[in-house]
Amino acid sequence: MSKDGDILYRPATPVDGAHMWTFVQEAGVLELNPSYAYILLCQHFGDTCVVAERDGEMVGFVLAYIPPRQPDTVFVWQVGVSRATRGKGVGIRLLRYLLALDGCRNVRYLEASVTPSNKASQSLFRAFARKSNTSCRKLPFFPSEFFPDEHESEHLYRIGPIVWPEA
Ligand SMILES: CC(C)(COP(=O)(O)OP(=O)(O)OC[C@H]1O[C@@H](n2cnc3c(N)ncnc32)[C@H](O)[C@@H]1OP(=O)(O)O)[C@@H](O)C(=O)NCCC(=O)NCCS
Repeated sequence: MSKDGDILYRPATPVDGAHMWTFVQEAGVLELNPSYAYILLCQHFGDTCVVAERDGEMVGFVLAYIPPRQPDTVFVWQVGVSRATRGKGVGIRLLRYLLALDGCRNVRYLEASVTPSNKASQSLFRAFARKSNTSCRKLPFFPSEFFPDEHESEHLYRIGPIVWPEA
């Protein structure tokens, strides 16, 4: 657990999954997945998921997991900050707290997939790389033709190597 001003950052639990689902509907922009997906991801990957809350109310979250074939990488599936809280550094702090979790102790890279229209997300990941003194590479990931429905292409943002401070 970590406190920054009036915002508390903590690992997620399955109970948070339902709140994430409601949060995503209110936040807009983010793609809404079934409530079961949020609850399940928090159950299986709670060690790599983070909730930010103020006075017990969710103001942001990161859902992330370590892909089994990439044990040195944490993949951010969704990150969101409430409209009223955006632009105040909470997105960056969520990612920092994520990487500081014990579940990320072997992580050297952070990845996320981002659509060309999501400028806030692109800025977040580029700023995070810059502030972590490392690089951010943009790579092809899923072209729009991959999707059975109307969907923008997704680019992979690969950040790292993450350099940990000397113990
Ligand atoms: C993307 C998001 C999580 C960023 O959270 P945030 O708390 O506002 O981000 P921060 O305040 O930590 O800002 C991080 C950087 O992104 C930039 N940024 C944030 N919002 C921006 C916007 N709308 N347009 C351009 N840049 C933006 C900030 O200026 C900052 O960069 P800087 O340090 O170079 O100035 C938030 O805007 C959000 O929830 N958006 C809707 C959901 C979404 O798109 N999620 C990502 C897809 S999974």
